[in-house]
Amino acid sequence: MALIGVFDSGIGGLSILDEALRQLPEQDYIYLADSINAPYGEKSSEWIAMRSLELCQYLASQGCDAIVVACNTATAQAIQHIRLELKNIPIIGVEPGIKPAAMQSAKGIVGVLATEATLKSDKFNALLATLPSQCHFIKQAGAGLVPLIEAGRADEEETLELLAKHLEPIVNAGADTLVLGCTHYPFLRRAISKLLGNSITLIDTSQAVVRQLKHQLQLQGKLSASDLPGAITFISSKDGVNLLKMAQELMHSDLDLHHTYSRALG
Ligand code: DGL
Repeated sequence: MALIGVFDSGIGGLSILDEALRQLPEQDYIYLADSINAPYGEKSSEWIAMRSLELCQYLASQGCDAIVVACNTATAQAIQHIRLELKNIPIIGVEPGIKPAAMQSAKGIVGVLATEATLKSDKFNALLATLPSQCHFIKQAGAGLVPLIEAGRADEEETLELLAKHLEPIVNAGADTLVLGCTHYPFLRRAISKLLGNSITLIDTSQAVVRQLKHQLQLQGKLSASDLPGAITFISSKDGVNLLKMAQELMHSDLDLHHTYSRALG
Protein backbone atom coordinates (compact mmCIF):
# COMPACT_ATOMS: atom_id res chain seq x y z
CA MET A 1 0.00 0.00 0.00
CA ALA A 2 1.28 3.45 -0.83
CA LEU A 3 1.21 6.42 1.52
CA ILE A 4 0.54 9.54 -0.52
CA GLY A 5 1.16 13.07 0.73
CA VAL A 6 -1.07 15.83 -0.64
CA PHE A 7 -0.05 19.37 0.16
CA ASP A 8 -1.71 22.76 -0.42
CA SER A 9 -1.67 26.23 1.10
CA GLY A 10 -5.07 25.35 2.54
CA ILE A 11 -8.20 23.44 1.57
CA GLY A 12 -7.79 23.82 -2.22
CA GLY A 13 -5.93 20.55 -2.58
CA LEU A 14 -9.03 18.75 -1.26
CA SER A 15 -10.26 18.99 -4.87
CA ILE A 16 -7.26 16.85 -5.87
CA LEU A 17 -7.63 14.50 -2.89
CA ASP A 18 -11.27 13.98 -3.90
CA GLU A 19 -10.21 12.78 -7.35
CA ALA A 20 -7.39 10.69 -5.83
CA LEU A 21 -9.95 8.91 -3.62
CA ARG A 22 -12.06 8.25 -6.73
CA GLN A 23 -9.19 6.74 -8.72
CA LEU A 24 -7.10 5.28 -5.87
CA PRO A 25 -9.45 4.75 -2.88
CA GLU A 26 -7.42 1.93 -1.34
CA GLN A 27 -4.23 3.92 -0.76
CA ASP A 28 -3.39 5.79 2.46
CA TYR A 29 -3.17 9.58 2.45
CA ILE A 30 -1.83 12.47 4.48
CA TYR A 31 -3.48 15.74 3.52
CA LEU A 32 -1.44 18.73 4.71
CA ALA A 33 -3.01 22.20 4.69
CA ASP A 34 -0.93 25.26 5.53
CA SER A 35 -4.09 27.26 6.24
CA ILE A 36 -2.38 29.52 8.77
CA ASN A 37 -0.35 30.92 5.86
CA ALA A 38 -3.03 30.89 3.13
CA PRO A 39 -3.21 32.56 0.70
CA TYR A 40 0.18 31.81 -0.86
CA GLY A 41 -0.79 33.57 -4.08
CA GLU A 42 0.16 37.04 -2.91
CA LYS A 43 3.44 36.03 -1.18
CA SER A 44 6.99 36.32 -2.54
CA SER A 45 8.49 33.58 -4.72
CA GLU A 46 11.27 33.04 -2.15
CA TRP A 47 8.84 32.56 0.71
CA ILE A 48 6.64 30.14 -1.28
CA ALA A 49 9.68 28.09 -2.34
CA MET A 50 11.08 27.91 1.20
CA ARG A 51 7.78 27.01 2.91
CA SER A 52 6.68 24.51 0.24
CA LEU A 53 9.99 22.67 0.53
CA GLU A 54 9.74 22.63 4.32
CA LEU A 55 6.26 21.06 4.17
CA CYS A 56 7.20 18.51 1.51
CA GLN A 57 10.21 17.53 3.67
CA TYR A 58 7.78 17.03 6.53
CA LEU A 59 5.61 14.73 4.36
CA ALA A 60 8.73 12.80 3.32
CA SER A 61 9.68 12.41 7.00
CA GLN A 62 6.25 10.81 7.60
CA GLY A 63 7.12 8.08 5.09
CA CYS A 64 5.21 9.27 2.01
CA ASP A 65 5.92 7.24 -1.15
CA ALA A 66 4.81 10.12 -3.39
CA ILE A 67 3.87 13.75 -2.83
CA VAL A 68 1.30 15.74 -4.75
CA VAL A 69 1.92 19.46 -4.62
CA ALA A 70 -1.80 20.13 -4.96
CA CYS A 71 -1.30 23.84 -5.39
CA ASN A 72 -0.68 25.63 -8.69
CA THR A 73 1.11 28.45 -6.89
CA ALA A 74 3.56 26.19 -5.03
CA THR A 75 4.10 24.11 -8.18
CA ALA A 76 4.90 27.23 -10.21
CA GLN A 77 7.26 28.69 -7.65
CA ALA A 78 8.82 25.69 -5.95
CA ILE A 79 8.55 22.33 -7.67
CA GLN A 80 11.99 22.31 -9.28
CA HIS A 81 13.55 23.14 -5.95
CA ILE A 82 11.50 20.42 -4.16
CA ARG A 83 12.44 17.78 -6.77
CA LEU A 84 16.13 18.63 -6.38
CA GLU A 85 15.96 18.25 -2.60
CA LEU A 86 13.74 15.15 -2.47
CA LYS A 87 15.25 13.10 -5.25
CA ASN A 88 13.95 9.69 -4.16
CA ILE A 89 10.24 10.50 -4.03
CA PRO A 90 8.03 11.22 -7.04
CA ILE A 91 6.77 14.79 -6.72
CA ILE A 92 3.66 15.47 -8.80
CA GLY A 93 2.64 19.06 -9.42
CA VAL A 94 -0.45 20.81 -10.78
CA GLU A 95 -0.52 23.39 -13.55
CA PRO A 96 -3.35 25.47 -15.01
CA GLY A 97 -4.87 23.44 -17.85
CA ILE A 98 -4.18 25.99 -20.57
CA LYS A 99 -3.16 23.33 -23.08
CA PRO A 100 -6.41 21.29 -22.94
CA ALA A 101 -8.32 24.58 -22.82
CA ALA A 102 -6.67 25.80 -26.04
CA MET A 103 -7.57 22.50 -27.69
CA GLN A 104 -11.20 22.59 -26.52
CA SER A 105 -12.04 26.24 -27.08
CA ALA A 106 -14.10 26.61 -30.27
CA LYS A 107 -13.56 30.36 -30.38
CA GLY A 108 -9.89 30.27 -29.35
CA ILE A 109 -10.62 32.62 -26.45
CA VAL A 110 -9.74 31.26 -23.03
CA GLY A 111 -9.95 32.84 -19.58
CA VAL A 112 -7.36 31.81 -16.99
CA LEU A 113 -8.27 32.45 -13.37
CA ALA A 114 -5.28 31.80 -11.10
CA THR A 115 -3.29 33.45 -8.34
CA GLU A 116 -1.01 36.37 -9.05
CA ALA A 117 2.05 34.27 -8.12
CA THR A 118 1.07 31.58 -10.65
CA LEU A 119 0.36 34.04 -13.45
CA LYS A 120 3.64 35.89 -13.05
CA SER A 121 5.77 32.74 -12.67
CA ASP A 122 8.38 31.76 -15.26
CA LYS A 123 6.93 28.23 -15.30
CA PHE A 124 3.44 29.38 -16.29
CA ASN A 125 4.74 31.85 -18.88
CA ALA A 126 7.04 29.23 -20.39
CA LEU A 127 4.03 26.89 -20.77
CA LEU A 128 1.99 29.70 -22.32
CA ALA A 129 4.76 30.36 -24.85
CA THR A 130 4.47 26.77 -26.16
CA LEU A 131 0.82 27.24 -27.20
CA PRO A 132 -0.44 28.38 -30.61
CA SER A 133 -0.49 32.16 -30.88
CA GLN A 134 -3.96 32.14 -32.46
CA CYS A 135 -5.45 31.20 -29.09
CA HIS A 136 -6.11 34.29 -27.01
CA PHE A 137 -5.72 33.98 -23.22
CA ILE A 138 -7.23 36.46 -20.76
CA LYS A 139 -5.27 36.11 -17.53
CA GLN A 140 -7.00 37.19 -14.36
CA ALA A 141 -5.68 37.02 -10.79
CA GLY A 142 -8.42 35.90 -8.41
CA ALA A 143 -7.32 38.21 -5.57
CA GLY A 144 -9.38 37.75 -2.41
CA LEU A 145 -11.14 34.52 -3.45
CA VAL A 146 -8.96 32.03 -1.54
CA PRO A 147 -9.58 33.58 1.94
CA LEU A 148 -13.35 33.45 1.28
CA ILE A 149 -13.17 29.77 0.25
CA GLU A 150 -10.95 29.00 3.27
CA ALA A 151 -13.61 30.61 5.47
CA GLY A 152 -16.29 28.28 4.02
CA ARG A 153 -17.97 31.19 2.21
CA ALA A 154 -17.69 30.01 -1.40
CA ASP A 155 -21.42 30.41 -2.05
CA GLU A 156 -22.03 33.67 -0.22
CA GLU A 157 -23.07 36.93 -1.86
CA GLU A 158 -19.72 38.64 -1.13
CA THR A 159 -17.90 35.86 -2.98
CA LEU A 160 -20.29 36.04 -5.93
CA GLU A 161 -19.73 39.79 -6.20
CA LEU A 162 -15.95 39.49 -6.13
CA LEU A 163 -16.02 36.58 -8.55
CA ALA A 164 -18.27 38.53 -10.95
CA LYS A 165 -15.70 41.36 -10.94
CA HIS A 166 -12.84 38.95 -11.73
CA LEU A 167 -14.83 37.20 -14.46
CA GLU A 168 -15.91 40.43 -16.16
CA PRO A 169 -12.86 40.89 -18.42
CA ILE A 170 -13.03 37.21 -19.36
CA VAL A 171 -16.73 37.38 -20.23
CA ASN A 172 -16.30 40.70 -22.07
CA ALA A 173 -13.57 39.18 -24.23
CA GLY A 174 -16.04 36.47 -25.30
CA ALA A 175 -14.24 33.49 -23.76
CA ASP A 176 -15.99 30.12 -24.16
CA THR A 177 -13.55 28.27 -21.88
CA LEU A 178 -12.34 29.04 -18.37
CA VAL A 179 -9.29 27.47 -16.77
CA LEU A 180 -9.59 27.01 -13.00
CA GLY A 181 -5.89 27.62 -12.37
CA CYS A 182 -5.98 27.32 -8.59
CA THR A 183 -7.02 24.17 -6.74
CA HIS A 184 -9.33 26.22 -4.52
CA TYR A 185 -11.42 27.33 -7.51
CA PRO A 186 -13.25 24.04 -8.25
CA PHE A 187 -15.11 24.87 -5.02
CA LEU A 188 -16.49 27.90 -6.89
CA ARG A 189 -18.20 25.78 -9.55
CA ARG A 190 -21.66 26.45 -8.11
CA ALA A 191 -20.96 30.19 -7.85
CA ILE A 192 -19.61 30.31 -11.42
CA SER A 193 -22.63 28.50 -12.78
CA LYS A 194 -24.92 30.91 -10.88
CA LEU A 195 -23.16 33.79 -12.61
CA LEU A 196 -22.53 32.36 -16.06
CA GLY A 197 -24.90 29.40 -16.42
CA ASN A 198 -23.56 26.89 -18.92
CA SER A 199 -22.08 29.52 -21.21
CA ILE A 200 -18.49 28.59 -20.46
CA THR A 201 -16.61 25.28 -20.26
CA LEU A 202 -14.61 24.85 -17.05
CA ILE A 203 -11.21 23.17 -17.14
CA ASP A 204 -9.52 21.73 -14.09
CA THR A 205 -6.69 19.26 -14.25
CA SER A 206 -7.34 17.06 -11.21
CA GLN A 207 -8.08 13.90 -13.25
CA ALA A 208 -4.84 14.21 -15.22
CA VAL A 209 -2.85 14.94 -12.06
CA VAL A 210 -4.14 11.79 -10.37
CA ARG A 211 -3.50 9.70 -13.51
CA GLN A 212 0.09 10.94 -13.33
CA LEU A 213 0.27 10.04 -9.61
CA LYS A 214 -1.02 6.54 -10.40
CA HIS A 215 1.53 6.12 -13.18
CA GLN A 216 4.40 7.19 -10.91
CA LEU A 217 3.31 4.78 -8.16
CA GLN A 218 3.03 1.95 -10.69
CA LEU A 219 6.56 2.67 -11.91
CA GLN A 220 7.78 2.41 -8.31
CA GLY A 221 5.85 -0.84 -7.77
CA LYS A 222 4.00 0.79 -4.90
CA LEU A 223 0.41 0.14 -5.97
CA SER A 224 -0.88 -3.04 -4.39
CA ALA A 225 -4.42 -4.24 -4.92
CA SER A 226 -6.82 -4.13 -2.00
CA ASP A 227 -10.57 -3.77 -1.65
CA LEU A 228 -10.35 -1.88 1.61
CA PRO A 229 -10.50 1.92 1.58
CA GLY A 230 -7.29 3.45 2.93
CA ALA A 231 -6.82 5.79 5.90
CA ILE A 232 -6.64 9.56 5.59
CA THR A 233 -4.86 11.83 8.07
CA PHE A 234 -5.76 15.50 7.83
CA ILE A 235 -3.08 17.83 9.20
CA SER A 236 -3.43 21.60 9.34
CA SER A 237 -1.07 24.36 10.47
CA LYS A 238 -4.21 26.10 11.76
CA ASP A 239 -6.93 23.71 12.94
CA GLY A 240 -6.98 19.99 12.14
CA VAL A 241 -10.53 19.41 13.37
CA ASN A 242 -11.88 22.21 11.20
CA LEU A 243 -9.92 20.87 8.21
CA LEU A 244 -11.63 17.49 8.54
CA LYS A 245 -15.01 19.20 8.91
CA MET A 246 -14.44 21.22 5.74
CA ALA A 247 -13.29 18.10 3.90
CA GLN A 248 -16.55 16.36 4.88
CA GLU A 249 -18.53 19.34 3.64
CA LEU A 250 -16.68 20.04 0.40
CA MET A 251 -15.62 16.66 -0.94
CA HIS A 252 -17.86 14.35 -2.95
CA SER A 253 -16.07 11.23 -1.70
CA ASP A 254 -17.70 9.44 1.20
CA LEU A 255 -15.10 9.94 3.92
CA ASP A 256 -17.06 7.64 6.25
CA LEU A 257 -15.74 4.72 4.18
CA HIS A 258 -12.20 5.60 5.32
CA HIS A 259 -10.53 5.75 8.71
CA THR A 260 -9.95 9.47 9.16
CA TYR A 261 -7.71 11.26 11.64
CA SER A 262 -7.08 14.95 12.15
CA ARG A 263 -4.41 16.89 13.99
CA ALA A 264 -2.49 20.13 14.07
CA LEU A 265 0.92 20.42 12.48
CA GLY A 266 3.77 20.61 14.94
N1 DGL B 1 -4.62 26.39 -3.98
C1 DGL B 1 -3.60 27.20 -4.45
C2 DGL B 1 -3.32 27.15 -5.92
O1 DGL B 1 -3.66 26.17 -6.53
C3 DGL B 1 -3.08 28.37 -3.70
C4 DGL B 1 -3.98 29.47 -3.41
C5 DGL B 1 -3.35 30.44 -2.47
O2 DGL B 1 -2.95 30.02 -1.38
O3 DGL B 1 -3.25 31.60 -2.85
O4 DGL B 1 -2.76 28.05 -6.48
